[in-house]
Amino acid sequence: MTEKARIGVLGAGLMGHGIAQVFALAGHEVSIYDPVAASLNQVRTRIAANLRDLGDDESAAERVHPRTDLAQAVRDVDFVVEAAPENLELKRKLFRETEQYVRPDTILASNTSVIPITAIMQDLRDRSRALGTHWWNPPFLVPLVEVIGTQWTSPAAIDLTMRLHAAAGKKPAHVKKDVPGFIGNRLQHALWREAVALVEQDICDAETVDTVIKAAFGRRLAVLGPLENADLVGTDLTLAIHQTVLPAIDSRPAPSPYLERLVAEGKLGFKSGEGFRKWSPEQQAALRAKVVEHLKKARANDA
Ligand SMILES: NC(=O)c1ccc[n+]([C@@H]2O[C@H](COP(=O)([O-])OP(=O)(O)OC[C@H]3O[C@@H](n4cnc5c(N)ncnc54)[C@H](O)[C@@H]3O)[C@@H](O)[C@H]2O)c1
Repeated sequence: MTEKARIGVLGAGLMGHGIAQVFALAGHEVSIYDPVAASLNQVRTRIAANLRDLGDDESAAERVHPRTDLAQAVRDVDFVVEAAPENLELKRKLFRETEQYVRPDTILASNTSVIPITAIMQDLRDRSRALGTHWWNPPFLVPLVEVIGTQWTSPAAIDLTMRLHAAAGKKPAHVKKDVPGFIGNRLQHALWREAVALVEQDICDAETVDTVIKAAFGRRLAVLGPLENADLVGTDLTLAIHQTVLPAIDSRPAPSPYLERLVAEGKLGFKSGEGFRKWSPEQQAALRAKVVEHLKKARANDA
């Protein structure tokens, strides 16, 4: 299955089309289902344009087959990945229906950002083949896919999913417990909580927080994880630092009132022109372009 599989993708939006692209480029046949014609009709053109832009084989788009019918999209596929809107009831219903059409050995995966996989898959007759695969945007530029098992998921389903994604050029990471935020978003938002607290406590402004991260440990993060770093400097030094710093770090188990106030005041970030900082349309476009360029260079370096 890891060499030439049949993949069913549910949802042809931002994530679904990118996930379909990765599997098609890896040589798999991909059927993609979306009930909204506008999303489905443009999926091949969108994928072909991405492939062209990245210098990848454009003919891979021909292995992506848009389907208006769910049963037709998932019948006889080896692996289903769902990238439909982030709504528990919608996802539960979609998997209940999907289970009626797939083979008994088809693996069923959800790309939910934060909804527990256990809640999404609770109604399935066979929950041992159900799991989470949490991709990062854009799926064809960010390597990580978190593979999340529930209490019911079989080790064989996890193993196959890890191998399928590794063979498609992704970096799968096994999340052994179905916890909120999985691994990546827990780590990311632990950092964001302290970033907000630093501004809230007037220790620095928002731009300074970002500068400190980007110009200091952010430089190393792509090649040196925190636990590698702790070993590098010594666990004894890490312990000493934690004894001093941890009591001072924000540990409130709820969103910061500062963040709540920004939202209440309509300071929603790019979409309203101001969040933690003010953003002109030109500044927004420049930052988006900078991120994509950075990710493209990183992908080229990986190759
Ligand atoms: N955007 C991100 O950065 C990101 C990252 C990781 C995970 N996710 C998760 O991936 C999922 C999809 O997010 P997105 O950003 O691609 O959203 P999106 O709105 O771009 O795409 C969702 C697609 O699902 C389609 N859809 C609607 N009802 C459907 C149904 N019943 N069955 C199948 N498809 C249906 C919509 O027409 C749309 O094309 C969400 O669960 C989201 O939380 C998003």
